[in-house]
Amino acid sequence: MLYDKLKAYSKSGVYPFHMPGHKQKAISDLPYELDLTEIDGFDNLHAPTGCIRDIERKAEFLYNANRAFLLVDGATGGILAAVRAMTSFGDKVLLARNCHKSVYNAVELCGLDPVYIQPDMIEGTDIFGSIDPDMLDKKLTEEPCVNLVIITSPTYEGVCSDIESISLICRRHGAKLLADEAHGAHFPFSDAFPESAIDCGADVSVVSLHKTLPSPTQTALLLTNDKDLEAKLQNELAVFETSSPSYILMSGAEACLNNMDYNSFEEYTNLLDDFYTKAKSLKNFRLLYDLGTMYDHDFGKLVITTYGTNITGTRLAEILRERFAIEVEMAAAHYIIAITSVCDTIEGFDRLYKALSEIDKTVFKTFEAAEIKTPGLPEKRFSPFEARRKAKRTIAFENAAMKTSLDYVYAYPPGIPFIVPGEVITAELTDYIKKLISSGVNVCSSSVKYPEYIGVADL
Ligand SMILES: Cc1ncc(COP(=O)(O)O)c(C=O)c1O
Repeated sequence: MLYDKLKAYSKSGVYPFHMPGHKQKAISDLPYELDLTEIDGFDNLHAPTGCIRDIERKAEFLYNANRAFLLVDGATGGILAAVRAMTSFGDKVLLARNCHKSVYNAVELCGLDPVYIQPDMIEGTDIFGSIDPDMLDKKLTEEPCVNLVIITSPTYEGVCSDIESISLICRRHGAKLLADEAHGAHFPFSDAFPESAIDCGADVSVVSLHKTLPSPTQTALLLTNDKDLEAKLQNELAVFETSSPSYILMSGAEACLNNMDYNSFEEYTNLLDDFYTKAKSLKNFRLLYDLGTMYDHDFGKLVITTYGTNITGTRLAEILRERFAIEVEMAAAHYIIAITSVCDTIEGFDRLYKALSEIDKTVFKTFEAAEIKTPGLPEKRFSPFEARRKAKRTIAFENAAMKTSLDYVYAYPPGIPFIVPGEVITAELTDYIKKLISSGVNVCSSSVKYPEYIGVADL
């Protein structure tokens, strides 16, 4: 039974460097007796005026937003609603290519035509860097019909972009800016973190409370400072969110927001500082924060890289799990991500550092990482919406080069597509994906028959 598995795991002593941000520590009790519905006196998430609206007001204060909407189906629901509220069917939208799959799903559902900018990789890595505001400016000049720009900042790896400049550029071109800030819910609580998207001028932002704050899984916020959008956002949330929101989740989010104590963030950021100082003594592993040229980085994301060493990120994650009882959030071919939060302990940070320094002594340097080559942006033949309406043929993935995909292919996590329906699959891409799979990365697809087969357009 799932319940027995969860119970057993909770007693296993494994240290969680992953979501949810509460790290399995209760900050409120969430029993069955509190699991209610919209009975008299308990407000309505889809038209809140009472106790639910009070939670949103608290969020507006903490996040410096005119309007905050409480979400119970993650940032995903907020992204779907925001994209629909900010566009009309058939619009052209500009996406940073490293957007999460929820953004692509919204684009398809809303019948939008996406154009992309692809941020450069951080030098010597296959990790997307910050978005270049000049590149965005140029693209918006080439695409004057775009009236919505969607970017991810911070990324899963904690890489931030210059939202202040980007929002000014968007405004100059008459476009709105939606920031997927799912990984940045903790930003307002310490000056040691990057500034929040709303404070930097984004029109709308979505934050997942559950990822980096002590709040139950699925809780999130949709934030805006644009008065004209408020009613539209509320209407679209009623389309995408359940009509039976969980009162347990909502009260869990409330407990989180009420407990955001700036002093505990000071302790937390001090622990992070100590960790980064100690990690400088590692000989083979490097932290992304110390590596690259990024506009800014959320140092709460410990991105430990194995570039240029004889082990993969997936192997490092396995060793941490098997020998040190540490579970990390994500393992890629050349790095792992450990998500930290205000609920992490000095013992947890020590355990991770000691484990890394022991493993670091057993690995050695190679030069293989210099050869990392990531595929460029694929050619787009149709929008994802048009692709959905094409006749589909299922073929072996190894024969897919130069065919037009009708499926997504992405590594999960982080859920950023390598190929989007309507795009041409290149041999470079199939080779790259094969390499990822052989280094243990979990590559998924919207095709149920993947990895053997993929759906392509029957042209
Ligand atoms: C960048 C990004 N945006 C959005 C989401 C969706 O967030 P949620 O899981 O809260 O629905 C994720 C999930 O991992 C993500 O990584």
